[in-house]
Amino acid sequence: MTNPAAGFIDFHSHLIPGVDDGSATPEQSVESLRAFAAQSASTVLTTPHFDASLTKMPVALAARLGVFDAGWAQLVAARNAALAAEPGLVLPEIKRGVELMLDDPDPDLSDERIRLDGGEFVLCEFPGMQLPPNAEWAMHNLRQKGWRPVIAHPERYRNHDTRLSVLSRCRSAGAHLQVNAGSLIGQHGSRAQLVAFALLQAGWVDYLSSDYHARGTPATARAVEALVERGAAAQATRLTVENPARLLAGEGPLPVQPLDAQEAQSWWTRLLRKVAGND
Ligand SMILES: [Fe+2]
Repeated sequence: MTNPAAGFIDFHSHLIPGVDDGSATPEQSVESLRAFAAQSASTVLTTPHFDASLTKMPVALAARLGVFDAGWAQLVAARNAALAAEPGLVLPEIKRGVELMLDDPDPDLSDERIRLDGGEFVLCEFPGMQLPPNAEWAMHNLRQKGWRPVIAHPERYRNHDTRLSVLSRCRSAGAHLQVNAGSLIGQHGSRAQLVAFALLQAGWVDYLSSDYHARGTPATARAVEALVERGAAAQATRLTVENPARLLAGEGPLPVQPLDAQEAQSWWTRLLRKVAGND
């Protein structure tokens, strides 16, 4: 059977060497790109951790982005060297952004290095794996300024209510949602897995990316298998290929068909039990 994620675009990974808890060396980064290529990735955006509060401290901002620039140059050089050394080797194209920790809900994103491939989209997360009750305010702020926030791994937050109401308000404020591939196969625990599928069953997920930290292999292929097993090959293509391509083209995501409603019922029931502490 054909791979529904053939040529996928991954826009959440930690492959700039030595700048965060991802890849430690240029060699490890190239191995990571090989692992992505083995799964048919066409493009990988790498998104090191970055604190939003730095955007209002010019000296610290320049220093942090300078570290990223130097690491990025190492990554580009290592990739080029590998391609030169191995004729016929295929590696994904690489681009960059950051994973923006919203420790300040109203950051200045005017430096294009903070945004995904320098476009309007920005990959965001909230501190402490807790969604602030007014998270939509930050999303609204960003949209007002012309940016398009994508919330990274929403399924991993620990304080969802059973209606996922904060995420609902964030979506209404114009945020998009990126689920981690690993969550679909239980790599972030059973609760994140339940929420990830609940979001898919609601049709709220716009993108699937790996959040790959250069250890093991990217979870994308196994996550796509899990979707295919649930009869969601078309959704897998939209989440990993079509919508990320639109993001790089500066276009918003197309709707993703909710996963099977009957199954949604059982996942919701389990989620509700879990949240209520009966599971
Ligand atoms: Fe990440």
